Amino acid sequence: MAVVFDIPFLDIPPLAGAAGTVRLPGSKSISNRVLLLAGLCRGTTQVCDALDSDDTRVMLTALRALGCGVEGDSRSLRVTGIDGRLQVRDAKLFLGNAGTAMRPLTAALALLATTQGGRFELAGLPRMHERPIGDLVDALRPLGCSIDYLGSEGYPPLRVSGDGGARLTLDAPIRVRGDVSSQFLTALLLALPLVARDRSITIEVAGELISRPYVEITLNLLARFGIDIDREGGQRFVIPRGSAYRSPGTIHVEGDASSASYFIALGAIGADRSRCIRIEGIGLDAVQGDIRFVDAARAMGADVVGTPGALEVRRGAWPLHAITLDCNAIPDAAMTLAVMALYADGPSRLTNIASWRVKETDRIAAMAAELRKLGTTVVEGPDFIEVQPLTHPRPAAIHTYDDHRIAMCFSLAAFAGVPVRILDPRCVGKTYPDYFEALFAVADAHRSDIPVITVDGPTASGKGTLASALAARLGYHLLDSGSLYRAAALAALQRGIAEADETRLAQLAGSLALQFDCGRIELDGSEVTDLLRRESVGALASKISALPSVRQALHGLQLSFRRVPGLVADGRDMGTVVFPDAQLKVFLTASAAKRAERRHKQLISKGFSVSIAALRADLEARDARDMNRCVAPLKAAEDAQLLDNSDLSIEASVEVALGWWQQRRPFG
Ligand code: DC
Repeated sequence: MAVVFDIPFLDIPPLAGAAGTVRLPGSKSISNRVLLLAGLCRGTTQVCDALDSDDTRVMLTALRALGCGVEGDSRSLRVTGIDGRLQVRDAKLFLGNAGTAMRPLTAALALLATTQGGRFELAGLPRMHERPIGDLVDALRPLGCSIDYLGSEGYPPLRVSGDGGARLTLDAPIRVRGDVSSQFLTALLLALPLVARDRSITIEVAGELISRPYVEITLNLLARFGIDIDREGGQRFVIPRGSAYRSPGTIHVEGDASSASYFIALGAIGADRSRCIRIEGIGLDAVQGDIRFVDAARAMGADVVGTPGALEVRRGAWPLHAITLDCNAIPDAAMTLAVMALYADGPSRLTNIASWRVKETDRIAAMAAELRKLGTTVVEGPDFIEVQPLTHPRPAAIHTYDDHRIAMCFSLAAFAGVPVRILDPRCVGKTYPDYFEALFAVADAHRSDIPVITVDGPTASGKGTLASALAARLGYHLLDSGSLYRAAALAALQRGIAEADETRLAQLAGSLALQFDCGRIELDGSEVTDLLRRESVGALASKISALPSVRQALHGLQLSFRRVPGLVADGRDMGTVVFPDAQLKVFLTASAAKRAERRHKQLISKGFSVSIAALRADLEARDARDMNRCVAPLKAAEDAQLLDNSDLSIEASVEVALGWWQQRRPFG
């Protein structure tokens, strides 16, 4: 499977359909709330299926820095809390761009520093320092908390400090604004039980409370930790006197409902009646508000069936129905609707989304700008966006503003029939590090739309190195076709099949039980990665690869590597025979002297001693065999780009090939 590491862009080819099963990562909102509560309470909490992402990692790092015990991995984390007593009194916490860490930790540490003494600095990425926190600070200061802004007034970074022993002023209701972010209320609800042992505490929300469902998650999880908040109407919350966090022992994190939105949309757009997208890890009874995205998707025509712990989604209406919807309750998932609107039968209007402007980026402006690049018309206002269906799609390079949701939802624009380039795709690491891998496992494209780069050339020209570097830079799959011939040769050696027995060799080649996994190759269930590189195996591969029926037997297997998002294939006949329609064909050469020298170095480093002269003679014999055989002889395709890398470093060769690739892409 292609793995999207730290790459500058990811090109998604036009997508044509989708089917299969996706296992969701844990909910970000639940994970960070649970981790904080587990860190503040007494005893050890086992947290199962927590999200493992940028935002949860900064929370865990902060908890460790504060003296909480953290063991295990995301499948099962064991968090031992501080029981409301500061273990560390001076710390600098880096919280990335995680609002779900910055806000509640600010509240908790402000209360603890005031009552127990301490000094804590909380900072994050530059964007975190543009996200407001003033409403929370304004709610905490009247209680007696000392909070200083270290940068701009109203924004992180900030310092909370206190000498300890101070009494907090908690008699009057604590007022907090709810119309900028519900996270301020959530932060107070999560933290104030720390100081509610001998008094009840009332919080009053001023202004309309937005994103209410996130507050419901907070209340639900507080209840799991033994804190039952009394609600008086929608705006008043009372933490009863004597409240104290009690670990639930074990707690399971449900799949992330906002992340589910991309796959619900994928099913609605790409899964025709006979197939479905099955989304595991969340059911219709989820506690997360974004599960209501299902209603919005259904209104647009999605066919969604809920089963215990899973959703099954198919295309219902097509084109989708245009909608006008108040999205206040599903602010994050609503971004997905803006992309679904491209496939609707009229303009769709998403309203009451002012909070988009203070999220990871100004999401209204960002969505409008990027949707327009695809060729649609968008009207934006202070708290709404209106998107027209896409009638004349254009390939577009989508800027992602370090916003995971923009990267994820725009991947769905590839169903418009054009390729879409996602810039800085790794920003999905905030909540869904494996998003693209999960998408590509269930999305498909017409074979001819899946880009292929071929790298052919003689033995030891550096094809393998160049091809794997290109695949890694582009997030594409890799086919080392030589390894298939080598595997056939190894299997023949193991079974004692003679090199002249073409019939049995072809049968063998056609039935190889091969597995490829991130550079590791298994044959018949055993790892053979190093065995395949042996000279004896290579020598036999060179001979049997001249047999037409062996080549034919491996043809289909090679074609099957052409999968979304793209392929880099190296060998001898990739550009001439197997992928004649490849968009870029590189023919890589180097002088025989250079190639012999390189192979010599390689072998010496592995502890083999051979003479350069013998190696060169062997290379030349193989070249002659590869070039003179009657089927698929080694030669440059007519439309290949020749690259002589005798005097080029690997990096320089990669840059040359990437330059050719960029010129062929439609993104300008
Ligand atoms: O690239 P390599 O050394 O791993 O390839 C092993 C042998 O397989 C090589 O001698 C030529 C043959 N081969 C081929 O004929 N066609 C390919 N596409 C790839 C390799």
